[in-house]
Amino acid sequence: MKKVILFLFLFIMNTSVSFALENQCVTCHSVLKDEKQKKMYLKWQLSPHQKAGVYCNDCHDGDPHSMKKDQAHSEGKGVDILAKTKPDKVNETCGGCHLDILEEFQKSRHYKNMDVKKRPTCSTCHYSLEGRIIDHNHIRKLCLDCHQMSVKEDEFLMLLNVEEYKEISEKSRKSVAIAKKMISYQETLKIKTVKESDISLAEELISLSEDIIHEDAIRWHQFDLHNLSSSSRKAYYLGQVAIDLLLPGKK
Ligand code: HEC
Ligand code: HEC
Ligand code: HEC
Ligand code: HEC
Ligand code: HEC
Repeated sequence: MKKVILFLFLFIMNTSVSFALENQCVTCHSVLKDEKQKKMYLKWQLSPHQKAGVYCNDCHDGDPHSMKKDQAHSEGKGVDILAKTKPDKVNETCGGCHLDILEEFQKSRHYKNMDVKKRPTCSTCHYSLEGRIIDHNHIRKLCLDCHQMSVKEDEFLMLLNVEEYKEISEKSRKSVAIAKKMISYQETLKIKTVKESDISLAEELISLSEDIIHEDAIRWHQFDLHNLSSSSRKAYYLGQVAIDLLLPGKK
């Protein structure tokens, strides 16, 4: 009995200690006054990584339990807190979690045999700790940062392809989101206005569309852009058919 009580006591102590042990990188950086540091913190705070519980030390290493800067930054071992996010290391750092994307990216000209100073990394296109995904209105500018020197026709066409692909991929995501909303609306109704069989067909189409969107977004990182537009058009089409099926009064 004593053992059980001791165990319970230790258990409670342990959980309350781990509550107290919040991520100290975040605790300290959230109150830094320096303008640059504030800006960096805010970028993470608004990022998809913050929402997903990916912390500073997941990309930078360091000791997230230490409340002292030097110990936190170097783990007492003289580690450089920026080593893992430098251009020659950052692809592998991000790829530690986004493995499928890293594997595709490794097949790309952007990765192979290229001077690290000239090549884009995950960090270049996703804006380091922002984790931002650029939209079709801005993507040309991102690519032109490096591809502007060339007036080769195939590169020009490539950029048009990229914009088109991005635009369709965004439209597909929108169609799928609308179709899903329409289904959840049907679920709230006492009497459905769309046939059960049409709803389940729409669900299948949505799931096919989502698979294509996801596969394309990963495969995109090969930067072999020829086949992407046609498969993303298919994803968009599937989403639109699902929406049509879900419109009330359709025969
Ligand atoms: C007690 C406060 C404190 C803690 C804890 C802390 N930092 Fe810092 N950090 C700072 C300050 C202050 C700076 C500004 C530069 C300096 O003074 O070294 C900084 C700078 C940085 C930089 C930029 C370094 C550079 O050379 O520009 C990174 C990256 C960083 N911190 C990451 C982390 C990570 C990751 C953790 C947790 C493992 C962490 N910090 C924990 C206070 C802290
Ligand atoms: C998803 C990965 C990721 C996460 C999470 C992340 N960072 Fe970073 N951070 C980066 C990358 C990549 C850079 C760009 C580094 C470079 O250019 O050398 C960077 C740059 C910085 C810089 C600027 C360094 C400089 O000198 O330009 C600071 C400061 C920093 N991070 C602090 C933090 C803090 C504090 C957190 C948590 C609140 C955090 N980072 C979370 C990836 C991340
Ligand atoms: C510790 C694991 C981890 C690391 C390291 C990491 N990520 Fe992430 N990342 C995630 C998770 C989890 C999500 C949210 C779920 C998702 O969308 O996959 C995410 C989301 C993203 C998104 C948004 C995806 C979307 O669909 O909106 C981008 C872009 C991204 N990460 C890029 C990066 C980049 C660039 C780096 C390196 C600088 C990086 N990640 C490092 C785990 C990680
Ligand atoms: C040359 C620019 C570029 C580089 C380099 C790049 N990305 Fe991307 N990434 C993009 C674009 C643009 C998209 C959006 C694709 C789409 O809409 O289908 C994207 C999409 C993503 C997504 C979202 C995938 C999804 O399921 O929706 C993640 C996560 C991501 N990239 C992570 C990475 C990682 C990790 C690396 C490095 C290994 C990397 N990216 C390298 C431009 C780039
Ligand atoms: C940081 C610079 C940089 C950025 C940003 C960049 N690229 Fe590149 N890209 C290069 C370099 C350098 C090459 C290699 C050229 C070579 O091998 O001759 C390349 C090669 C390519 C190739 C292969 C061309 C071939 O002949 O096989 C494609 C496709 C490509 N980039 C597309 C893009 C797209 C799309 C974007 C924007 C989302 C982009 N790049 C952004 C630097 C960049």
